[in-house]
Amino acid sequence: MNADQRNPAPIEAAETTEATEHVEPAEPAASVGAFDSVLTIDTTTPHSARMWNFWLGGKDNYPIDRALGAQLQESFPQIVDIARASRRFQARAVRHLAGEVGIRQFLDLGTGLPTADATHEVAQQAAPQARIVYVDNDPIVLAHARALLSGRPEGATAYVPADLTDTETVLREAARTLDPSRPVALMLLSTLGHVTDDARAAALLRTYLDAFPAGSHLVLCDTIETPLTRAASDEYADGGALPYVSRPADVLRSFADGLDLLEPGFGSISLWRPDEPVTTKPVDQWGFVAVKR
Ligand SMILES: C[S@@+](CC[C@H](N)C(=O)[O-])C[C@H]1O[C@@H](n2cnc3c(N)ncnc32)[C@H](O)[C@@H]1O
Repeated sequence: MNADQRNPAPIEAAETTEATEHVEPAEPAASVGAFDSVLTIDTTTPHSARMWNFWLGGKDNYPIDRALGAQLQESFPQIVDIARASRRFQARAVRHLAGEVGIRQFLDLGTGLPTADATHEVAQQAAPQARIVYVDNDPIVLAHARALLSGRPEGATAYVPADLTDTETVLREAARTLDPSRPVALMLLSTLGHVTDDARAAALLRTYLDAFPAGSHLVLCDTIETPLTRAASDEYADGGALPYVSRPADVLRSFADGLDLLEPGFGSISLWRPDEPVTTKPVDQWGFVAVKR
């Protein structure tokens, strides 16, 4: 079952049932077009953004997320290190791109709930004029989108509540904020595993990268397949969450085909240009930053 089938509508109409929670969304300026003034948060199914928030030590999650999150943490304790390493890798990659490389536009697909060192904060610290578009299809991310939009006046931040597999909508709406004739950093951090079919994931990346010129970058990380991560993926899906697949390292690496890898290349993200000497074990979350020539 793919992401479209599991979560067909970016924002559901408000319905009053005991299993849902109504949340006021961020200002419409955050989004693209009209949406309901009340969002429905499904608290009967564990959600990726909320479980990720649980592993990161956040409070924006529900008992259903905490139950599966704790169960997974028990059988695969590395998940907590993976979530933290993913956020740190993201911050280092954005700092490098906005600082040394001079990228001024970022398209962050599968944003997740706001945390410290969000893409706009890191990018605009290096370059206040940086422009950032966030995309996620979880209503809870939309409900918190205001925190993603507190960027610097010299730059711009926008939030598009959309399914990232709907490339037409995402690219059209992103173009309200980003100039598609100039390089963009396309970011998918711990998110492409939700597009479970390899060919579909590769085609999706191609569509996005084709929309932007040479000098654009891809920042990607996901879980590599080992017996432990495969079991964790199965347990995650069996628990009712939107499936997230781990991939053999060579498949993950192939998502950079046709691009040039920046140093140090493809590997465990905790070893990608670490700020400090690495004292922890490399995590099974691998990734790269690559440039389109
Ligand atoms: C594991 S979280 C990672 C969040 C963030 N990138 C990070 O690294 O902290 C995956 C995110 O992808 C989002 N996501 C999953 N499938 C999606 C889809 N088809 N369209 C848009 N967002 C999606 C989820 O809602 C969730 O916020």
